[in-house]
Amino acid sequence: MTQDQLKQAVAQAAIDFILPKLDDKSIIGVGTGSTANFFIDLLAQHKMAFDGAVASSEATAQRLKGHGIPVYDLNSVSDLEFYVDGADESNERLELIKGGGAALTREKIVAAVAKTFICIADESKLVPILGAFPLPVEVIPMARSHVARQLVKLGGDPVYREGVLTDNGNIILDVYNLQIDSPAKLEEQINNIVGVVTNGLFAQRPANLLLLGTKDGVKSIKP
Ligand code: A5P
Repeated sequence: MTQDQLKQAVAQAAIDFILPKLDDKSIIGVGTGSTANFFIDLLAQHKMAFDGAVASSEATAQRLKGHGIPVYDLNSVSDLEFYVDGADESNERLELIKGGGAALTREKIVAAVAKTFICIADESKLVPILGAFPLPVEVIPMARSHVARQLVKLGGDPVYREGVLTDNGNIILDVYNLQIDSPAKLEEQINNIVGVVTNGLFAQRPANLLLLGTKDGVKSIKP
């Protein structure tokens, strides 16, 4: 199976998981990236089964709207049962690195609101220890150099993601060579640096369910 076929299979597995639990008032949190895009395209086939969606990025909002799925402002939503999104890395505890697509802050907000965060990923994303993928950090532009110096003190090698502005008008530093033994602790340490909006570690709010696409089928992993 190709990587895209694995992504499509996990997107379908997420649909199969949530569909029986939806009603015409349900609003679904939807993530960002190539795996989430497969999910959106499949979700569109069932748009009469739910009310609408909350998007974790402008790109996702455009894709949902293109399918005729209503997109709601998160502030107008009181109940969000499911958030479905991909990841750049996951460990067995379903702690994640996200933000390869620069949407980490809105993704973290929607994940914080949702009761159940379903992560969908192909098997290349499951790792024993997080950190081979450089950790994205969203930073207020004027704080870029300050934050970079603090990240070096934490043992990382920050690299400015040239030409990228987030949906919130901020920049991304990708941090290489971090030793991520305690993801929740590092998540907090980096978020405490003045000028950091948030970082791509999802350890304080890990996923609740990982649907992992493997050549032997989709595996369901819980922490
Ligand atoms: C977006 O900012 C990211 O968090 C994505 O969820 C992550 O990069 C996974 O993307 P793919 O599904 O394209 O691998």
